[in-house]
Amino acid sequence: MKKILVTRKLLRSCEDKALKSFDANLNLNDELYSQKKLIEMSEGKDGILSSLTDKLDAETINKLPETIKIISNFAVGFGNIDLDAAKARGIAVTNTPDVLTDATAEIGILLILGACRRASEGIESAKESNWKWSADYLIGKQLTGARLGVLGMGRIGQKIAKIAKSLGMIIHYHNRSKLSEEKEQGAVYHDNLKSLLSVSDVLSICCPASKETIDMINKETIEYLPKGAVVTNVARGDIVEDEALIDALERRKVYAVGLDVYKNEPNLNPGYLKYKSAFILPHLGSATKETRTAMANLAIDNIDEFFKTGDCKNKVN
Ligand code: GLV
Repeated sequence: MKKILVTRKLLRSCEDKALKSFDANLNLNDELYSQKKLIEMSEGKDGILSSLTDKLDAETINKLPETIKIISNFAVGFGNIDLDAAKARGIAVTNTPDVLTDATAEIGILLILGACRRASEGIESAKESNWKWSADYLIGKQLTGARLGVLGMGRIGQKIAKIAKSLGMIIHYHNRSKLSEEKEQGAVYHDNLKSLLSVSDVLSICCPASKETIDMINKETIEYLPKGAVVTNVARGDIVEDEALIDALERRKVYAVGLDVYKNEPNLNPGYLKYKSAFILPHLGSATKETRTAMANLAIDNIDEFFKTGDCKNKVN
């Protein structure tokens, strides 16, 4: 039986599956392993079932034991893993696409609604019973008729576009390549970021974090947005330069933000906390029982497939 290190606690049924499939070293107390501890714990193992909280940079990967042949990330994103370093060591990296599309798109829509309709302020006032209904009380931005710019029209972006369209939003998108008409569903393609941002009353960031997208939303690009735009991010915090976005909130260039992901999670930039117009969640994108179960099971199946066939359809490096 192959020996596997599972770095974070999984839902019980998934841990049972891991124990049936492998000689699995589980993390029942859900301790957050330091890079040093992760390297030590990998000793004698054939693979690692990692999570987005494990920072598998080049230095860490280069210190992993020779026996490690696969890192199966319990996430669709893999910005926490240096793919080139893994490839150079002959380590396959896999992810969990598809199974989290619906749950993550739901949170993407929640961010849009929460930011546009001033949910943070509303929740706070309702709890404190200090509100008085009036014709202009907590007036927000209506989604119906507003233009939604989807940055990254992969599976999650497409699903957000579909739901947003049903809410009456007009969909624009920027992607590395134009989608087929069937996938576009009437959305307008922009071949560059500036063009997309200039029509985005609401922006939904859905692209993966990569060398190309890090800090893509920055001091300069924020200026392309219409005044009073809403910026939401369901993808990765690394795509946004926080100081620039916080400054844009302060200047009212940006009306509100809806964020589920941050640089240096869980330590989000405290600047966001000063603004009632910031609707913020603690990285809940895939957090439903169905989805977390499907993700962990897929992460396990990826390892299984890799050891049985020498390859895996969800290999990303
Ligand atoms: C969640 O953020 C994921 O990448 O799976």
